[in-house]
Amino acid sequence: MEKIVINGGKKLHGSIRISGSKNATVAILPALILCEGVCRIENIPNIVDVNLMATVMYNMGADIKRINKSTIEINTANIRNPVAVDKLVGEMRASSYFMGALLGRFSHAEVSFPGGCDFGVRPLDLHLKGFSMLGAKYSISDGIIKLDAEKIVGERIYLDVASVGATVNIMLAAVKGEGTTTIENAAKEPHVVDLANFLNSVGADVRGAGTDVIKINGVKHLGGSTYTIIPDQIEAGTYMAAAVATEGDVTLTGVIPKHLESITAKLREIGAIIDEYDDSIRIRCSGRPHCCDVTTTPHPGFPTDMQPQIATILSFADGASRINEAVWDNRFCYVTELQKMGANINVDGGSALIKGVDRLAGAPVKAVDLRAGAAMIVAGLAASGTTYIQNIHYIERGYEDVVEKLTALGADIKRIYDNDPSIQTA
Ligand code: EPU
Repeated sequence: MEKIVINGGKKLHGSIRISGSKNATVAILPALILCEGVCRIENIPNIVDVNLMATVMYNMGADIKRINKSTIEINTANIRNPVAVDKLVGEMRASSYFMGALLGRFSHAEVSFPGGCDFGVRPLDLHLKGFSMLGAKYSISDGIIKLDAEKIVGERIYLDVASVGATVNIMLAAVKGEGTTTIENAAKEPHVVDLANFLNSVGADVRGAGTDVIKINGVKHLGGSTYTIIPDQIEAGTYMAAAVATEGDVTLTGVIPKHLESITAKLREIGAIIDEYDDSIRIRCSGRPHCCDVTTTPHPGFPTDMQPQIATILSFADGASRINEAVWDNRFCYVTELQKMGANINVDGGSALIKGVDRLAGAPVKAVDLRAGAAMIVAGLAASGTTYIQNIHYIERGYEDVVEKLTALGADIKRIYDNDPSIQTA
């Protein structure tokens, strides 16, 4: 098994490029199933979740050509069966998007129940409500969701919660349907907008993405295009957090500063100096972080996917902070790991009270999910002594070249095997 080992206390400095967005890529890859032409997708991050999704599509019959590390060409003409029943499908949440994409192309879909990070209940009721309103019937048995429609017909669909997944799935199912579909209380995340932009680039008619109301006028055909994925908001936010945690001076290139506004605002409250440019951002910090309260909400609010990383900084801030997690039921599993490093955090339901300690101390910890793993890295970089992080496969699901990028910024970080004789693991 591999681990990450960090000797903490090095101030990060320098410049790195942010990779393409995981959550946009995992929505756009299934959307390719709806396209009749060849698509070239650029700025794809080389991470486990994306590679899993591409493998499932390859197993379904898609022709996938890797042009270079971040560019692939895909032709899905040879997918003949609307079936994504594969053990790999059960390993990630975004594989639920095969339901919308296959339904949109074949009016039928069979998809293994999706998996993904465990934040408590992760329902699919809004996805299924959306499909039903578009004319599909569904059944679930043996861990497989089956959907069938005579045809997809546009409807007005109100989402009780502004769910990213339901918004994406309804867009995919409706884009080649008859008439107009309106999604009310739609998710506004940058990756939802990126999917809409991609669909429009291949001939769709999707309007209003990025607002509460998305209108999809069904079209008969979608062609091909060359499309560049947006930068990853959460990868950028994680390196911003790492810069603040280590009192560093870091420039991130290839970002869209507008997507980072809520993160920038909170890190400024904590004491960071942040300069925004057209497509880069510089973040500096010196001295102990200031305490502050944080509530996670859907975009444009503070993202839940940055909650563990900011909680980590607040765990050594100059006072008490409160975090309210308003998106997921159970996203504090990483707290036990931070406690092993000396953090003083009390969780009560969806809220955590963090009393800042002087400094975290390195310890053996584990990544309990993707962003929790990112938080362990931020903690290890800031802590005194050595931190060993287990379960790094979670981190590799969403962060391209994380060890290499942090090394380029001056961190003392390595990937090691359990039996590496040069390292004494705790
Ligand atoms: N919800 C329902 N019913 C549904 C779907 C969702 O009640 O049918 C609720 C959920 O229980 C949750 C809220 O709606 O309370 C938001 O869930 P959403 O559907 O927006 O989440 P998701 O689509 O499953 C995406 C990201 C997550 C991110 C959330 C929230 C992808 C592939 N995943 O998940 O990203 O936390 O939105 O922003 O886009 C990550 O990247 O680490 C990650 C977990």
